[in-house]
Amino acid sequence: MIITGAGMGLGLATAKELASKGAHLVLVDYNEPALAEAKTEISREFPEVKVVTVFADVSDEEATKNYVKVAVDTFGRIDGFYNNAGIEGRQARMTEYDLDIFKKVIDINLMGVYFGLRYVIPVMQKQRYGRIVNAASVGGIRGVMNQSPYVASKHAVSGMTKNAALEYGRDGILTNAIAPGAILTPMVAEAFRQINPADPKAAEIEYAQHNPTKRLGEPHEVAKVVAFLLSEDNSYINGQTIAIDGGESNIYGNA
Ligand SMILES: NC(=O)c1ccc[n+]([C@@H]2O[C@H](COP(=O)([O-])OP(=O)(O)OC[C@H]3O[C@@H](n4cnc5c(N)ncnc54)[C@H](O)[C@@H]3O)[C@@H](O)[C@H]2O)c1
Repeated sequence: MIITGAGMGLGLATAKELASKGAHLVLVDYNEPALAEAKTEISREFPEVKVVTVFADVSDEEATKNYVKVAVDTFGRIDGFYNNAGIEGRQARMTEYDLDIFKKVIDINLMGVYFGLRYVIPVMQKQRYGRIVNAASVGGIRGVMNQSPYVASKHAVSGMTKNAALEYGRDGILTNAIAPGAILTPMVAEAFRQINPADPKAAEIEYAQHNPTKRLGEPHEVAKVVAFLLSEDNSYINGQTIAIDGGESNIYGNA
């Protein structure tokens, strides 16, 4: 299994979930200390699992080719691919958004996911088997205030997921996306710090009130769904963007 953005958050939680099921792992991240720490943690908890790390920025095409090569050289095949690495950017209105940050969000969230698909799919085609999960977001289903490039990139990921499903389902490759709501990871903690620098906890509590469950999600709740979609047990779900958000994306009006 390849997991990008595996150094922390949803990538790390999913790596642990997959390790608990005995999967061997290729962990990819551009945060080297986090990557090393992830490997140490997983190897300590699951000593029987083989863990390989690759330092790579997923928005770099050559780096993507390299992590795919490392996976094939090490394990001979790629059964599952969690195309997860992504960034949120800053909070700002569309007309005031910093252009460099805008392009960076698109480069990582859209081009990074695309490069992953471009180089992993041919390996899976040869095997005539593969399971792919792309990281979309509720921001890939709905608008989200002050997050234009993020929302644009995540809608694009959802669209590309449909196309991958159409084009490669015949090769035994099932491609889906997940659309998490607010899950308590370092990325979401940073968003609450930007919304209310003086009291991020207050921003978090206020945000949770808009969710039907009145709480935020936990990384392991996403990891369980991703692990299922990456397993052979998923035999007929293809091209879907699956919300994991406590029902929040269904709200119209007050809840
Ligand atoms: N946490 C949420 O509530 C939530 C909600 C919806 C979607 N998502 C999506 O899930 C994915 C993971 O989110 P998270 O909350 O775990 O984020 P996070 O910031 O906690 O962790 C992301 C990891 O990805 C790595 N990363 C980022 N850009 C990279 C790049 N260019 N190359 C290699 N590694 C890179 C980071 O170093 C980090 O280790 C993202 O695509 C995010 O948009 C998260």
